[in-house]
Amino acid sequence: MKLTTDQKRFLEQWMDFLKIPSVSADPIHKKDVTQGAEWVKSALLNAGCPHAEIIQTPGHPIVYGEYLLDPSLPTVLVYGHYDVQPADPIDLWDNPPFEPVIKNTAIHPDGAVFARGSCDDKGQMFMHIKAFEVMLSKGSLACNIKFMIEGEEEVGSDNLEDFVKTNKEKLACDIILISDTGMIAQDQPSITTGLRGLSYMEVTITGPNRDLHSGLYGGSVQNPINVLCKMISQLRDENKKITIPGFYEDVIELSTEERAEMDKAPLDLEEFKNSIGIDAIEGEKGFNTEERRSIRPTLDVNGIWGGYTGEGAKTVIPSKAHAKISMRLVPDQDWHQISEQFTDYFKSIAPAGVEVEVITHHGGYAYVTPIETIGYKAAHQAYLETFGKAPIPKRGGGSIPIVPMFEKELGVKSILMGFGLDSDAIHSPNEHYGIFNFFKGIETIPKFYKNYIKLWNQNKSD
Ligand code: BES
Ligand code: MN
Ligand code: MN
Repeated sequence: MKLTTDQKRFLEQWMDFLKIPSVSADPIHKKDVTQGAEWVKSALLNAGCPHAEIIQTPGHPIVYGEYLLDPSLPTVLVYGHYDVQPADPIDLWDNPPFEPVIKNTAIHPDGAVFARGSCDDKGQMFMHIKAFEVMLSKGSLACNIKFMIEGEEEVGSDNLEDFVKTNKEKLACDIILISDTGMIAQDQPSITTGLRGLSYMEVTITGPNRDLHSGLYGGSVQNPINVLCKMISQLRDENKKITIPGFYEDVIELSTEERAEMDKAPLDLEEFKNSIGIDAIEGEKGFNTEERRSIRPTLDVNGIWGGYTGEGAKTVIPSKAHAKISMRLVPDQDWHQISEQFTDYFKSIAPAGVEVEVITHHGGYAYVTPIETIGYKAAHQAYLETFGKAPIPKRGGGSIPIVPMFEKELGVKSILMGFGLDSDAIHSPNEHYGIFNFFKGIETIPKFYKNYIKLWNQNKSD
């Protein structure tokens, strides 16, 4: 792929941005996260945004920018996040996570940038700043734009939620535009029409009041790790249905027609298995893999620890065992209620001889958007123009809790125009984002604006 002078500059800037380790979860990186916010603010100003500011919160800052052309024109609010997931396990990276490098892969013959956040979400969010710059320089931007780029998405967006609730006027808009999801394949664009909710729990099992010699006490007392494993195994039955009473009560089941519609873009199971190095799939009975990872709720252990995990062997019965357990939720599950149901059930299945503590870390609601809106149609047309192929609507399995929040607080729908691929390894070692995808995004986003403004004007005169 031959890059223009502008494209080379965009690529360099993006790689520069990726050098900032803006890991929101780790207090060690607090200053780096702030530096990330400053970088975004400068990028907005340099792109031609007349106003950009950093808004402090009790946590990490929010970057807000606006380009207000004319109040009689529609307003698009661009949302993204400049914070990233922790890079560990660092040992599994082929290159240091905050020293971006370009490498070619089978899926990315034009190269991909490897670094933490290259895709999620620095690369995808930066496309919007550059698309804005391109539109301004061409004089083709005929609407108002507001940018709200946060630094706490990967840790639950708590402070953004408060900011949205108290700044409804400032954030008033007609549509929210986000690139923080993926698409089906390089030659098959898709638009994300749904996100799952989330309920993130942590459990601690305490047995004896100190670690014990496993010879002196083994076999005569509860071992918290054994107990924890057994309790976890009871959370799903043999059909992989979650056993928490009431868990499925509010789940909206899709109709046969909707499921048939979904099945028109079937997942290639062999490719799916090969891409992650497994030889068999598993999941809830009665649903296929694509359904299991998008329209069905799940329960997974994200981490488990306790006892001796150092070098060699130590014969010990630990006093405590811990696990982080998360549930992906679907419409209309209420994550607060699910967290309570989990807590009650988990405590109820504990045997005598141990104590159970359960805490809720964070959560969020699921989201769905219809495809009949002008926002969706504008996005559809945009992909059609740049990919030469109609995008497929697709429910995503991940979560962006602020999206349903926007709908509740601002009454505005979000359009999820993602350009990443599942193989980009977001949250994993060797995260990358295709240079093709980056520039395709910068090309497609202005088409969204063009089509949206057109449809908006038509709607107005109807
Ligand atoms: N960008 C992802 C969410 C995503 C990725 C949605 C791909 C659909 C497709 C986002 O940054 C993320 O990782 N969200 C978290 C939730 C958050 C509360 C920590 C997630 O889904 O685990
Ligand atoms: Mn993201
Ligand atoms: Mn993420």
